[in-house]
Amino acid sequence: MTELILALDVLTREEALEIAEETYPYLDAIKLGYPLVLGAGLSVARELSQFDLPLIADFKVADIPNTNRLIAEHVFESGFSAIIAHGFAGSDSLKAIVEATENAGGECYVVAEMSHPGALEFLSGETAEKIAQMAVDCGTDGIIAPATRPERVKALRSIIKDKKILSPGVGAQGGDAREIAPLIDGMIVGRSIYNSENPAKEAEKFAFVRR
Ligand code: C5P
Repeated sequence: MTELILALDVLTREEALEIAEETYPYLDAIKLGYPLVLGAGLSVARELSQFDLPLIADFKVADIPNTNRLIAEHVFESGFSAIIAHGFAGSDSLKAIVEATENAGGECYVVAEMSHPGALEFLSGETAEKIAQMAVDCGTDGIIAPATRPERVKALRSIIKDKKILSPGVGAQGGDAREIAPLIDGMIVGRSIYNSENPAKEAEKFAFVRR
């Protein structure tokens, strides 16, 4: 079974709550990032907790260890159950987040490779594989890897083994849900659900990945 995670990148509290209300029965988690939190404030996380789904903070945290720890602590105190960090800041920075995550009983994921074309300029190939290995060594719960490049997901799977792979890139970025679903643990879908005329119907179309 692959989980369906909604990337809720709308800009207002009202839109976020409306789309969550319509789609939550078809979801396993909601991912919030800078677009919504900067638009609606961090308090939107508490409001979204009424839908009883895990909330993932996609802040792609990439700072020195002390700042990473402060950010992660704040994230977990604000109602999130998982955090996404970058790995390129190094293992000490990542360990600080893992420690805060463990103290809060949450989950931590590391971006190994991104899904857009420009990702190939820096965050791919050997670098992505090193980051995936670091994610394992630092005790994270898994990585973020691109649904747009299934062959890369397979390569990264051989490194992270039974830890989780969450993959964005299905739909608006061109990734194929049927192709990627068997390779991953969670499919992250944003625009093709929240921009559709009927977000609930669109989310329901992904029900096959959850079986
Ligand atoms: O709208 P779309 O389905 O393309 O949304 C993908 C989501 O996943 C966005 O929130 C984007 O920031 C995020 N993401 C990504 N690629 C990564 C990591 C996160 O597209 N490697």
